[in-house]
Amino acid sequence: MLAKAELHVHLEGTAPPELVARIAARNGLTIPDEMLGEDGRFHYTDFLHFLRTYDLAASVIRTAQDYRDITYEYLTDVAHEGGIYVELTASPDHAALVGLGDDEHLLGIAAGIDEARRDCGIEARILLSAVRNFGVEQAIRVARYAAQRPHPYVVGFALAGDERFPVSEFGTAFAIAADAGLGCTVHAGEWQGPESVRAALALPVSRIDHGVRAIEDPALVEEIAARGVTLNTCPTSNVVLGVYAAYAEHPLPRLRAAGVAITLGSDDPPYFGASLAGEYTICAEHFGWDDEDLLAVTGAALDAAFCDAELRSDLRARL
Ligand code: HPA
Ligand code: ZN
Repeated sequence: MLAKAELHVHLEGTAPPELVARIAARNGLTIPDEMLGEDGRFHYTDFLHFLRTYDLAASVIRTAQDYRDITYEYLTDVAHEGGIYVELTASPDHAALVGLGDDEHLLGIAAGIDEARRDCGIEARILLSAVRNFGVEQAIRVARYAAQRPHPYVVGFALAGDERFPVSEFGTAFAIAADAGLGCTVHAGEWQGPESVRAALALPVSRIDHGVRAIEDPALVEEIAARGVTLNTCPTSNVVLGVYAAYAEHPLPRLRAAGVAITLGSDDPPYFGASLAGEYTICAEHFGWDDEDLLAVTGAALDAAFCDAELRSDLRARL
């Protein structure tokens, strides 16, 4: 099985409806009516509605044990499809909204990582993410917390959420994280155009999540390639949410041909019917990538990973 690595996946967004329902039940909660459609799948009609549905699911995830279970189930699933390394984007703000302390939240995730490694040999690390639409002050709080290195598995700082809140307002949060030596990544160029990717490049980031709309500005694509910034792309997420009408229109092959380093991610797998292995298969089927091409995608993910050098070289040896 081809070795795979994933740098762009949101932890709460990995929990399928059945797991969210099980967690809600054991917390004595009922799942919000609007969360699921009649087909039993997460229900949303567009990106902003998706974010609200995501928040509804997160609202019943309350304890360190819940986070352990979500982490363990996701990582063991990915290991069974060839995953060797995952960076999980975790959101202290979502945990805080349900009264779960930052340290407890991390301990739950770390337990899931340790148990998945023990059972399946997969490795994982944690990015602490702020949410644009929760505001600048909250982002600074998350960055400060991450900068204290609250757990050895915390290796990076990220910014997700509603892209209409411009990244330029979050410079202080990124400076705090970068000054502490954390790797930094930011969502851009998914819903907003190339100007949002340019704004992202002004931050101390070595990666951009999505970034695909950079394709609309050839000079920008050149700059991304020249600077060696990696785009963590999620083709299925883009097609399901309607950024592109079909895989055939997705710019991933053109970005790659322009020399941009790219990785594959599932973003929020059960919401989009995506999986890490599925993204690899889509690149094979729609873009004609062979095993060597796909292994190079995994290599690019290991190059761009925020883990330490020792783990990176152990993982490279597994390719
Ligand atoms: N995009 C932006 N913000 C998010 C996402 C996403 O896919 N998932 C959770 N927060
Ligand atoms: Zn994302």
